[in-house]
Amino acid sequence: MDSIGSLGLQQQEEAPSCPQEGLPCPSNSSELVQECLQQFKVTGAQLRQIQTSLLDSMEQALKGQASPAPAVQMLPTYVGSIPHGTEQGDFVVLELGATGASLRVLWVTLMGIEGHKMEPRSQEFVIPQEVMLGPGQQLFDFAARCLSEFLDALPVGNQGLQLGFSFSFPCHQTGLDKSTLISWTKGFRCSGVEGQDVVQLLRDAIQRQGTYSIDVVAVVNDTVGTMMGCEPGVGPCEVGLVVDTGTNACYMEEARHVAVLDEDRGRVCISVEWGSFSDDGALGPVLTIFDRTLDHESLNLGAQRFEKMIGGLYLGELVRLVLAHLARCGVLFGGYTSPALLRQGGILLEHVAEMEDPSAGAARVHAILQDLGLNPRASDAEFVQHICAAVCTRAAQLCAAALAAVLSRLQHNREQKTLQIAVATGGRVFERHPRFLSILQETVRLLAPECDVSFIPSVDGGGQGVAMVTAVAARLAAHRCLLEETLAPFRLTREQLAAVQAQMREAMAKGLQGEASSLRMLPTYVRATPDGSERGDFLALDLGGTNFRVLLVRVATGGVQITSQVYSIPECVAQGSGQQLFDHIVDCIVDFQQQQGLSGQSLPLGFTFSFPCRQVGLDQGILLNWTKGFNASDCEGQDVVCLLREAIGRRQAVELNVVAIVNDTVGTMMSCGYEDPHCEVGLIVGTGTNACYMEELQNVASVAGDSGHMCINMEWGAFGDDGSLSMLSTCFDASVDQASINPGKQRFEKMISGMYLGEIVRHTLLHLTSLGVLFRGQQTQGLQTRDIFKTKFLSEIESDSLALRQVRAILEDLGLSLTSDDALMVLEVCQAVSQRAAQLCGAGVAAVVEKIRENRGLEELTVSVGVDGTLYKLHPHFSSLVAATVRELAPRCVVTFLQSEDGSGKGAALVTAVACRLAQMTCV
Ligand code: BG6
Ligand code: GLC
Ligand code: GLC
Repeated sequence: MDSIGSLGLQQQEEAPSCPQEGLPCPSNSSELVQECLQQFKVTGAQLRQIQTSLLDSMEQALKGQASPAPAVQMLPTYVGSIPHGTEQGDFVVLELGATGASLRVLWVTLMGIEGHKMEPRSQEFVIPQEVMLGPGQQLFDFAARCLSEFLDALPVGNQGLQLGFSFSFPCHQTGLDKSTLISWTKGFRCSGVEGQDVVQLLRDAIQRQGTYSIDVVAVVNDTVGTMMGCEPGVGPCEVGLVVDTGTNACYMEEARHVAVLDEDRGRVCISVEWGSFSDDGALGPVLTIFDRTLDHESLNLGAQRFEKMIGGLYLGELVRLVLAHLARCGVLFGGYTSPALLRQGGILLEHVAEMEDPSAGAARVHAILQDLGLNPRASDAEFVQHICAAVCTRAAQLCAAALAAVLSRLQHNREQKTLQIAVATGGRVFERHPRFLSILQETVRLLAPECDVSFIPSVDGGGQGVAMVTAVAARLAAHRCLLEETLAPFRLTREQLAAVQAQMREAMAKGLQGEASSLRMLPTYVRATPDGSERGDFLALDLGGTNFRVLLVRVATGGVQITSQVYSIPECVAQGSGQQLFDHIVDCIVDFQQQQGLSGQSLPLGFTFSFPCRQVGLDQGILLNWTKGFNASDCEGQDVVCLLREAIGRRQAVELNVVAIVNDTVGTMMSCGYEDPHCEVGLIVGTGTNACYMEELQNVASVAGDSGHMCINMEWGAFGDDGSLSMLSTCFDASVDQASINPGKQRFEKMISGMYLGEIVRHTLLHLTSLGVLFRGQQTQGLQTRDIFKTKFLSEIESDSLALRQVRAILEDLGLSLTSDDALMVLEVCQAVSQRAAQLCGAGVAAVVEKIRENRGLEELTVSVGVDGTLYKLHPHFSSLVAATVRELAPRCVVTFLQSEDGSGKGAALVTAVACRLAQMTCV
C-alpha cells in the first residue's frame, strides 16, 4: 500500500450503487453515520480483555511456547542496559522502515555526560514504490546510495565510520550486529530478504557502493532507538513506544524470564512486536467491516491485524474506507466520490490529523476534502471530523490497552505496588495527531491505575538512541579486537607446533648423548615392562602429585589388588626442611601399616617420587631439583632413598625395604603396561607434566651396554629452559614464571600443566581488565589472589554441558563479579590457554613416538601411551586435542592413549615386583 499519495483536485465521480459490502444503507444519513461511528467504539471491558490477552501471549512467548504459537513474538534485542549517558563519538544512523516509504540518514555526535548536546544532521530520502516491492538487493543498494549522497555533503574524508542501522521490522536478533528478518510489514515486500541477515545485506551493499569505509556495528528496532534516546536525568526510561507507520513497543524484561536466553541475571530489552497481535477472542469483537476490507486489500493479508487498527499507515485508509462507504450510500458528498477517495492510500495520516484538529475549523476540513476531489456539503465537515476522531480514538485506546499490558507486566516483575516509569514515545502519529497522546494517557490511567507513567517524546526520532546503542556495540567490538589481539599469541599454527616437535627431537638426542640440552633424559634402570609372572605383597609410596598416597599392592594370579590411603602434605612441610618432610612421610607409612595390620612386617617398597632424579641404580635417586611448588631444604643433590632410610632410622620402630625409586611417568607406563604390552610411553599432565619412554640402550650414553631397552625419564617439563621456547612464550607466561619459586625453570611445564594454567589465565584476565575489556576495568581482590584458578575450575568452565550462567556462578564463587559478556570472555581465555597447552603436549608426544619409530626403522609404529594426571583426566577437551595434534604431527604412528586408573603407585609396586623376581632368579 502506498502511503505517499499525490494530492490535487480530482474529477468527481458518481458513487456506484454498491455500498461497502455487508453494510446496509439506512435511509437516515445521521443514523448511518452514527452506525459507522458506533462500530469504532471500544468498551472498557473490551480493552481490558485485549490487555489481559496480550499479557498472556507475552508470557507464553517469553516462555518459548511453540504450539499454539503465541500472538506476539517477544524478540530479544541484545540491548542489556539503558544508557548511562557516557557514550561519546560520531555515528552514522540509517533508518529504514519506521516512517513509511522514506529512509533517513543521520550524523549523530554523542558528547558524553559533560559535553554540550549537538543537533544531529539528517536527510530524508523517498523510497520509490518499485524499490519497496522489488528485489532486496535493489533496496539495500538504494540505501547505500543514500548514505553516500548524505556523506558527500559532510567533511568526512576517508575516515572509518561506525553505523547504527535502525531497521523497524520483526527480526530474530542473534547479536548486536546480527538480525534476520522474519517478515516484512508496513507496505514493504522486497524479495530475497526474509530469512536473511539484514546487517550483512547492508554491509554487502555498502561494499558494492565502495565509496566510504563504513562498519555496520549495530542493528536496532525503532522502539529500542526511541527508548535508548530518552534524555538521561528524567529517571529510568524502560519502555519505548512507537506509533508511526506501524506500531510496537519494547521494554526491559528480566533476563531470567526469557527462555531463549541463557541468562539468569539482569535485564534485556524485548521488542514485543505487538503489531502482529491477533487473538480472535480479544480482537474479534472490535474488528469492523472496514478493518476486514483494509486487511483484505493489504500486501500482508491476515498479518499485523492489531497494527492495522493503530499504525499511521492505516488510519487514513480506514477513514477513506468509511467515507467512501458513506458517499456510496449517498450520505456524504452528495453521493459522489472522487478518484482519491477510491484509491488505496488516497487519504493520509496527515489529512486525518488535520481534519480532526478542532482548532482547524470547518473551513479547513472543507479545503482538505476539496483537495481530495470531493465536494463537501455544509453538514459533511462535521461528520468527517467525527469519523476521523472515532478511528483515531479507537487507535489510541487500543494502543493504550497494549501499553497497559506491558506496564502491568513490568509492575508485576518489579514487585512494586506503584510503578513509577517513563515511557519514551516516538513516531508521526504522536507528532501529528492532536489528541492521540492525551487519549492514550487517559486510557492507560484507567487500565493500569497502579502505574505512574510519564511520557517523554523521543529525541530526533530515535536517532540519538540508535547512536547510543551503536556506541555500546562499537565499544564491545573494540573489546573483542583487544581480546583477539591478547589471545593471538596463544593460538599456535601447525608450523609452530612442528617446530616445537623438531626442537624436542633435537634436545632428546643431545640429552641422551650427554650434550648440553634442556632435556635431561634420565635413565631409570627400568629395562622391561612386567611379564605377568610377578607375585607378592608390596608397599608403595606416591609423592609429587596432588595427593600423597601410601599403598598396599597385592600382585596375585588373579591380578593386582590395591588398598591405599591419601595423606596431605601441608605446604609448610613441602617447603620446610627435608628432615621434616621425610619424617612426615614415615609417620604416614607407620599410620598406614597400623591401619592395615602390617606393623612389624618389612614388605618390599616402591617409591613413586615425581621429581627429577639422577639414578645410578633402581634404588638410588639423587634429587636434581625440586619442581611443582616443593622446596624442602637440604634435599637437592641427595639420594632420596637415603633420606627416606634416615627418616626410618629416626623412627626406629619401622623396618622398610626400599627396592625401587620410580618417577610417576614410569609408574604410569608400568601400570598400563601390565594390561597392554604396547605401552612404551608414560605421560603425566597433572600438577606438573612429563613423559618417559623405552629407548634403545645403545642410544643412552650414560649407561653401559648396547642391547635391550631402558626407560628414559625425559623430564620434559624443563624443555625450553635454555631459551628455545622464548618465541612462543607470552608476557603472561613470563609473569607466571617470575612469580614462581623457580623462575626460569620448567618453562614447558609452566605452559602446560595444571599448576600453572590457572595462573596464566589469571594474568591474562588482569591484563584484559587493565585494558578495560573485562570487569568494567575494575581490578578486584579476587583476581589479584594468586592461584585462585585451580585446574578443576578450568575444566569445569570449559565443560560443554555448562550454560554461560553456570560459568558465571563458578567465577562469582571465586569472588569475581561479572556480566555474561565477561563470562564469555573468561571462557575464551581459558579455551585459548588450555588449547595451547594440549597442542604443546601433543607436539611433545609426537616427537617421542616418532623417535621410537625411527629407532626401530619402522614405516609405521603402533604404540600405546599410558597417561595420568588431573588436567588430562578432568579437562573436557584436553585429551582429544592432544590426540589430534599427535595425529597431525606424527601421521606414521598409530597412537593409543590409555588412561591409568590406579595411579603410578601400582606401577612402582610392579617395578619393585619385577626387581624382586629378577633378584630371586639371580639367587637361584
Ligand atoms: C597420579 C600418580 O595418578 O597422577 C601421581 O599416582 C602423579 O604419582 C599424578 O604425580 C599426576 O597427577 P596430579 O594431577 O595429581 O599431579
Ligand atoms: C512494525 C514493525 C516493528 C516496528 C513497528 C513500528 O510493527 O514490525 O518492528 O517497531 O512497525 O515502526
Ligand atoms: C614434574 C617433575 C617430574 C614429574 C612431573 C609430573 O615435572 O619434575 O618428575 O614427572 O612433574 O608429575
